[in-house]
Amino acid sequence: MSTSHLSLPTVRDLVREAATAPSMHNAQPWRFVHHRGTGTLDLRADPARGMPHADPDHRAQFISCGAALFNLRVAAAHSGLVLHTSLLPEAEDPWLVARIRPGTEGTAAATGALASLYPALSRRHTSRFPFDEHPLPDEVRQLLIREAEAEGARLLFPGGWHVRFLVDLIAEAEHHAEDAGDPDETRWLRVGTAPEMATDGVPWSAVGPRSSDSAWYSRDFGHGIGREQARVRFERRPQLAVLSTADDDPPAWVLAGQALERVLLAATTIQVATGLTTQPLERRSLRWLLRDPVQGHGAVQMILRLGYGPTGAVTRRRPVDDIFVVEP
Ligand SMILES: Cc1cc2nc3c(=O)[nH]c(=O)nc-3n(C[C@H](O)[C@H](O)[C@H](O)COP(=O)(O)O)c2cc1C
Repeated sequence: MSTSHLSLPTVRDLVREAATAPSMHNAQPWRFVHHRGTGTLDLRADPARGMPHADPDHRAQFISCGAALFNLRVAAAHSGLVLHTSLLPEAEDPWLVARIRPGTEGTAAATGALASLYPALSRRHTSRFPFDEHPLPDEVRQLLIREAEAEGARLLFPGGWHVRFLVDLIAEAEHHAEDAGDPDETRWLRVGTAPEMATDGVPWSAVGPRSSDSAWYSRDFGHGIGREQARVRFERRPQLAVLSTADDDPPAWVLAGQALERVLLAATTIQVATGLTTQPLERRSLRWLLRDPVQGHGAVQMILRLGYGPTGAVTRRRPVDDIFVVEP
């Protein structure tokens, strides 16, 4: 379907679906502005919801906004809408992540591929629980690699020693975080009465256990508030994937976010559980060590843990009216 304007009810629905995207600490660092006159929709990063400690360059924030943008594209395709998206269209307005308007181009195959991911929007959750030892079949890995490529990013499934190296870097970053403390984690963790009713942040119910040995290192959410996560045995061979982009600037981060969400939704569609890890990316000295040692090029944007197991707990989202503004 091609229209010259996006109608208000349509836009509201698209925004609601976009906001189911993952974001660092579930901060939902986005705002959507609908311009009635032009019928366009702006996706803006909300600087008040950044992570000054863990994400001073706003890389994770732009990745989160990219994931929301991808969801919006999926929801639009599901409604038969073709969209035209300009990324970071105004140099003097760095928080304007994307301007979205109805488009005319777009092949039926591309729209169909996006629409097929729609049921996964509400089923995708971050899982911080142990997976079983069942390896991902090669065709699953190849499928996810192609999904990342479709958005211009690269997904690598590292082998034996490289996985161990990544786990060691995650461990080092995690130990540093425990020593130094991370005020962002504490700010966004939701404990106390009915934490599952909070409309942002990570509820304790979604935090999951930590590994009882050195096989895996989950984020220690409880450190800042003096609360211990349970210790359990995780899979012996974590199945990790590294998402990288050729460049390392805001457009590349938005691209990475779209590719990330495409991989996550495709994995969800085929019952593969997913978790995300950025501790070593939050420290400059560790981040460059993460680059693919064979190919060398590219900037690592995300580490994923994939497998068969619990899909993760539901985290809530802010009401649409908190993130959506209509202007003349
Ligand atoms: C850029 C980015 C970084 C993230 N880093 C981590 C992380 O290091 N550890 C973790 O457990 N989850 C991480 N997450 C997952 C978020 O905590 C999760 O998306 C958020 O709490 C919302 O939950 P949901 O994904 O289940 O909807 C990250 C997500 C994004 C988009």
